[in-house]
Amino acid sequence: MRQVLVPTRGAYHVTGKSVYLDDIPVQQGTLYALPYDAPSAHAHITKLDVSKAAAYPGVVRILTYKDVTGENQIGGIIPDEPLFAEHEIHFWGMPVALIIATSEDAAVQARKLITIELEELPVITDPREARAKGELIIPPRTFNLGDTTNAWANCAHVFEGRADTNGQEHLYIETQGAYAYPTEHDSIRIASSTQGPTAVQRTIARVLGVPMHRVEVDVTRLGGGFGGKEDQASAWAALVALAAFILKKPVKLAMHRMDDMRMTGKRHPYSSDYKIGFDKDMKIVAYEATFHQNAGAAADLSPAVMERTLFHATNSYAIPNVHVTAYCCRTNLPPNTAFRGFGGPQGMFVIESAIAHAADKLGVSAREIQRRNLMVEGSEFSYGQIADHVNAKACWDLTDQKFDLDKLQSQNNAFNAKSTTHKKGMAIMPICFGISFTNTPMNHARALVHVYQDGSVGVSTGGVEMGQGLNTKMVQVAAAVFSIDPSRVKIESTNTSRVANTSPSAASATADLNGKALENGCNAILARLKEKASRMLNSTPDEITIADERVLNNGQRTDLDWKKLIHAAHWDRVNLSESGHYATPNIHFDKTKEKGHPFAYHVYGTAAVLVTVDCIRGTYAIDAVKLVHDFGKRMNDAVDIGQIEGGLVQGLGWMTMEEIVYNDKGKLLSNALSTYKVPDIHSVPKEITIEALPTDGHPLAIRRSKAVGEPPLMYGIGVYFAIQERDQGLPAGCAHGVRCAVHAGEGADDVVCMTL
Ligand code: MTE
Ligand code: HPA
Ligand code: MOS
Repeated sequence: MRQVLVPTRGAYHVTGKSVYLDDIPVQQGTLYALPYDAPSAHAHITKLDVSKAAAYPGVVRILTYKDVTGENQIGGIIPDEPLFAEHEIHFWGMPVALIIATSEDAAVQARKLITIELEELPVITDPREARAKGELIIPPRTFNLGDTTNAWANCAHVFEGRADTNGQEHLYIETQGAYAYPTEHDSIRIASSTQGPTAVQRTIARVLGVPMHRVEVDVTRLGGGFGGKEDQASAWAALVALAAFILKKPVKLAMHRMDDMRMTGKRHPYSSDYKIGFDKDMKIVAYEATFHQNAGAAADLSPAVMERTLFHATNSYAIPNVHVTAYCCRTNLPPNTAFRGFGGPQGMFVIESAIAHAADKLGVSAREIQRRNLMVEGSEFSYGQIADHVNAKACWDLTDQKFDLDKLQSQNNAFNAKSTTHKKGMAIMPICFGISFTNTPMNHARALVHVYQDGSVGVSTGGVEMGQGLNTKMVQVAAAVFSIDPSRVKIESTNTSRVANTSPSAASATADLNGKALENGCNAILARLKEKASRMLNSTPDEITIADERVLNNGQRTDLDWKKLIHAAHWDRVNLSESGHYATPNIHFDKTKEKGHPFAYHVYGTAAVLVTVDCIRGTYAIDAVKLVHDFGKRMNDAVDIGQIEGGLVQGLGWMTMEEIVYNDKGKLLSNALSTYKVPDIHSVPKEITIEALPTDGHPLAIRRSKAVGEPPLMYGIGVYFAIQERDQGLPAGCAHGVRCAVHAGEGADDVVCMTL
């Protein structure tokens, strides 16, 4: 298919023409909202005094839980999250009141005048402590395959350890925000920076106490979401909607960066234990892990995130005996939430840690352990899905073939033999990521297609453009089905009145789900157009094709083109609009058995990460990341490469420099860009080489082009292991990449020779 870059998209961003929430021209009489949030992580509120703030010039109203017209509740999966704190505070940053003023500045000044008296309660920030105290949001879940208990006896080597990962700030360039306008019939129209327009609509309806049809949510685009706006855009939208509903005035909130960082949840920190057993050939016989997920103070999406940790606990390895358990631990941090990878990276880090541990202890290369255990066609995941279209080994082998891993290793060894101050490390990071919402019922979407009488096309889908290139792909889909120039297709904003009951744009599945719905809608219109054309040309519909805006009859060019056909069809009263629907076929999951076939397909890849560590200064540089990725049959190279680069850098930031710090009182210390460091131009890899695995793609992927949003984040995990890689003491020139008998000498009985 033609690879297009729709000229408006990127160009609009770089010329500042894209309209984000804060760029929407404000209506006359617009008021500005600002949340007053809890200055403690766990406490009883004994007194709240807003009188001075309410008297500040410009302040119109201060709302608290008492003003909520519907339910003071925003919990999506579990109703455990009040919009406003009532009598108790559960995390530092929890909204307590909402100041509405005639200017942002008045609201900021007034906020300083609110006083609160608290009776402090014990604060938990550590998930293991939460588990010990029985603070679990849902009961633990276990995925089991085979029988690990009996398997340990058959292992030649068994290792146990602990692996922890910290949280991560989403740092979307556009902060959270919403702008609500009261409309006729006591209704609300709201622009929201959300990945989940329907989640916002449902939450507002609940908080206001009105049916969903009275709430219209409109989203043009986001300046990034990364999961942080899948669920957590709803609170801010509900606050401004409530204000607009009560005051009958437009109300806007575009959050200050520090407010956003303090009040919103992040990637879940995890603290995990593992046990891994190998046979004498270093095949993994058994794997057990216990994951402690730091969920924060309310469920939010944590139970779903926790589930994906279990799904991805074995990464791309075939392991016959698996027993993995996860605990969703309630702490007094802001509720943690979706973040690119959705718990998958946290699970994958643990098994990579277990493999690195074994490699280090046995003096064998982690690379060789990884390679020997890659999944193959027909391997069974712990959740019962039988792997098909498996590209784990194909990606690995092509990485080796393209980049010559032995050579890279021996170059490192040669360098390390000579250098005492600097050492080079290499790690390989294979990935396997399941595509579909793990919650099967969420895997459906709709799209509304209008062909206007001049031949131009307007498309609405349930998908949200957040920088991932969705709109570009949607233009390509419509243009391809109709075989028209992409410039004829316009993607409209995402609007709950045009496309209803949407799943959030998440799980990397947005283009697949919405794209297939769009294809279905376009195909239905196309069928009517062919019927019309066949009548005009005295032919039959199956003889008609449209190619490059020209109508062909039996493969022969005719005088009829797209514009003429549309004009004729319209005046012949042919319906030129359609709503397409798509639901992923063949997926299911039984939570009572923890078995099923939850994913439409998996995405694979292998990255080789090369670093240099300055052992004197304690600094490091990422020399190169060379990877082979399973894109399927790519529909847009530029979009896909952007996703790989962005995902990789976001992943390595999480694994290396980004550090979320809460003190033991639950106060966020890394609360600004000065105290929270993300990768910049100096810290990104000096070289990123991306090779596509040549394949025919997957039929359940949009136009066989596989989902690409989240998987590349996990390549970043390789950076951690490359930095950690110990100097294996190999003499220069040993290309085996292992401490083999030849080079290491006889004697040490824990040395395994894997050179055959
Ligand atoms: N890329 C950009 N530029 N901005 C984003 O917010 N979100 C990521 C990923 N890539 C994101 C992004 C996340 S968390 C997901 S789930 C997917 O995009 C969502 O989009 P998709 O389903 O269309 O891949
Ligand atoms: N990924 C992202 N978001 C989700 C998922 C998922 O698997 N399930 C529910 N929300
Ligand atoms: Mo992405 S974490 O599924 O929004």
